[in-house]
Amino acid sequence: MAPEVVDNERGTDAEIPLQVAEDFQEEYFTSYEDVEIHRLMVSDSPRTKAYADAINNNKHLFNDKIVMDVGAGTGILSLFMAAAGAKKVYAVEASGIGVVIQKVAEDNGFGDVIKVYHAKVEDISLPENEKVDVIVSEWMGFYLLHESMLNSVIWARDNFLADDGTVFPSEARIYACPCSLTSFYKEQISFWGSVYGFNMSAVKKYALKSKMTKPEVCLVPESDLLADPVCVKKFNLRWVSEDDVKFFQETTFVGITKPGSYQGLCFWFECDFDGIDYDEDGQAFGTLTTLSTSPFSPPTHWKQIVVVLGYGDENNQQMELTCEEDIGCNEDLNIGTENVGNSSHDKEEKLDIVNDNQESVCPEGQDECRTPNMPDGTFDEISRSSLDNRVETDEVVGWKITLAQCENNMRHYTMTVEMLDPETEEHPVPCSCPRPQCLIISKMLEKEEMENEDTDSS
Ligand SMILES: C[S@@+](CC[C@H](N)C(=O)[O-])C[C@H]1O[C@@H](n2cnc3c(N)ncnc32)[C@H](O)[C@@H]1O
Ligand SMILES: [Zn+2]
Repeated sequence: MAPEVVDNERGTDAEIPLQVAEDFQEEYFTSYEDVEIHRLMVSDSPRTKAYADAINNNKHLFNDKIVMDVGAGTGILSLFMAAAGAKKVYAVEASGIGVVIQKVAEDNGFGDVIKVYHAKVEDISLPENEKVDVIVSEWMGFYLLHESMLNSVIWARDNFLADDGTVFPSEARIYACPCSLTSFYKEQISFWGSVYGFNMSAVKKYALKSKMTKPEVCLVPESDLLADPVCVKKFNLRWVSEDDVKFFQETTFVGITKPGSYQGLCFWFECDFDGIDYDEDGQAFGTLTTLSTSPFSPPTHWKQIVVVLGYGDENNQQMELTCEEDIGCNEDLNIGTENVGNSSHDKEEKLDIVNDNQESVCPEGQDECRTPNMPDGTFDEISRSSLDNRVETDEVVGWKITLAQCENNMRHYTMTVEMLDPETEEHPVPCSCPRPQCLIISKMLEKEEMENEDTDSS
C-alpha cells in the first residue's frame, strides 16, 4: 500500500509514514476479528432490522441484481440480499471474521450466489470490471463519522457502482440538541456530596472537569432534551465525496422549548434507505426506511454521544474532542433487552476534550490527536446554583461544531465544540432559532421554496 497523503483542510499536506498508516489499519481490522462485536451488532435489532426492512421492502432494487456488501462481517446483510433475489452478492470483508461467510452462505443455500472477497475493498477487482447495481454497507460509527469506514464505501461506490446504481443507506444525518443530564449528574457528580458520612463535595468540580474531558456514550432520555433537535449535517451517500467528510464546521442556534438545566449537548445520527421509485404512470413503489439512533427511538448500540458542558466562563471555552478506539470494552451496558457494548461497535471509545490553547494536532506517529487535560488548581465545591445553568423557554443557545479527520489516522476525528453567544455571534441563514429576525428570514425562504415548487409542478 502506498503511503497515505492526507490533505489537511487548514493548509499543510502531511505525508504519513507507511508503517503508521498500516498499523492503524491492522489494529482496526483486528478489532473486528472478535466475534462478540459481531454478535452485538447483529443482535442490535433496530440496526439489523432496518437493513432487513430496507432490503425486503425494496425487492425491485435487489431481485436479479448484482450487489455488493462492503464490510460484510458475518455475512448477515449479504444473506438478506441473496434472500431478496440478488443474482450475485459480492461480500467483501477484510478482517478475520471473513472466513465464516462462505460456509454461512452455503449453509443457507446461497453458496453460488454469495461470492466472498476476504480482503479490503480497496484491494479487490471484480471479474471483467463488472459494475454492481447496489452497494449496501453498515459503516456508521459514533456521531456517524467516527471509524471513517465511509471512506471505504465512497471508494467502493466510485470504483464498482453502475452509473444508475443505488447506495444503501442513501442519506445520513447528524443531529444535535441541548440537554439536561439528570442521571449522569446524580450518579457521577452529586454522588460526591456525601460519601460514607463524609462531605466530599470538593470532588464534584474535579469530577465535572474530568467528565468534560470524556464525552459520554450514553442513553439520553427524551425528557432530558431541552429543544427541538436540529440536523447539523446531511450527507447524500450517492454523491458525498471524501473531501466532504474530511472537514466540516456548522454553526447552530436553537430556542429552548423546555426550561431546565443546560448541562450537555447530545448528538446522534439517522440513516435513510430510500427505495422509492415511480412507474411509467407516475405511481410510486418501494419504501423509505429510517434507522434512527435518537433518544426518541428504541436504543441501539450506538446510544447517543453527550458533550458535558462546563459553567460560567468554562462554557465559553472552545473544547476539542478527539477519540481513540483502541481500548477494550470492559463494561456491558444495558439497552432494552440486549446487553451491548460501550461504543460504536463495542470497542470502548474514549473521547477527550482539551482546551483551545493546547496542542490539537496528532504528533506524527502517535495513535491519537489529543492532549490529556487534567484539571489543575484547587477544586472548590460547586454550588447548587452554578450546577444549574438554567435555561428558560425561548431562550436562544448556540454552538459551533467542527469535525476534522485526523491527519495520521483517518479513522479518527477531532471534534471541536464551541459554545456561542447568541447576542454577539452571527446566526446562519436560515437559522432554527426563535429570534424575530431569524423567524422572518426562515418564513421568507419557506415561502420562496413553496412558490418555486408550485411553479415547477405547474
Ligand atoms: C460495522 S461492521 C458491519 C458488519 C456487517 N455488515 C453487519 O452488518 O453485521 C463493519 C465491517 O466492515 C469491515 N470493513 C471495514 N472497512 C473495510 C474495508 N475497507 N474493506 C473490507 N472490509 C472492511 C470491518 O472489518 C467490519 O467487519
Ligand atoms: Zn437565529
